[in-house]
Amino acid sequence: MRGDNVILVGFMGAGKSVIGRLLARRLGRCFVETDDMIVARDGRPIPEIFRQDGEEAFRRLEAEAVEALRSKTGDVIATGGGLPCREGRMDALRALGTVVWLRGELPELLARARRTGARPMLERRSPEEIAALHRARVAYYAQADLVVDTAGLGVDQVVARVLAALRERDAARV
Ligand code: S3P
Repeated sequence: MRGDNVILVGFMGAGKSVIGRLLARRLGRCFVETDDMIVARDGRPIPEIFRQDGEEAFRRLEAEAVEALRSKTGDVIATGGGLPCREGRMDALRALGTVVWLRGELPELLARARRTGARPMLERRSPEEIAALHRARVAYYAQADLVVDTAGLGVDQVVARVLAALRERDAARV
């Protein structure tokens, strides 16, 4: 049976952590972040994992995190921006519950990502390379159950939109 978690996906800077935390509070649910699960398990910060072991090693840790998520019920889960972007990953996430894509405009996403902590995937990449990375990832995010546009919106407005989208989906199911 399909799980009853709410899973947030989207590019770096989409606001998955902030929105997820508020959303969990509004829904009275627990909040989980795959990046935190990885750091807790590995013991190193993410930039250090990338620096010492490389991206592929980090992606393997993400695969383990997805496995571990199978024990979750009723949680709000924020995923790392690259986690859904592998073959079969969106299916695995959708098996856990309702997947919500926080969709934004690339310049706004990048501005936010650069304000909020280290992002190894944005280092040493040209603007063209970052745009290509974003384009390639959109094909995965677009497989979400729900798409919420965040462009130009504040955190509270985005949370309200996600809640409305979840309610609409629940109503359509009955
Ligand atoms: C990554 C996004 C990061 C983190 C890691 C890799 C990516 O999470 O998982 O730096 O590949 O897009 P956020 O999406 O929370 O920035």
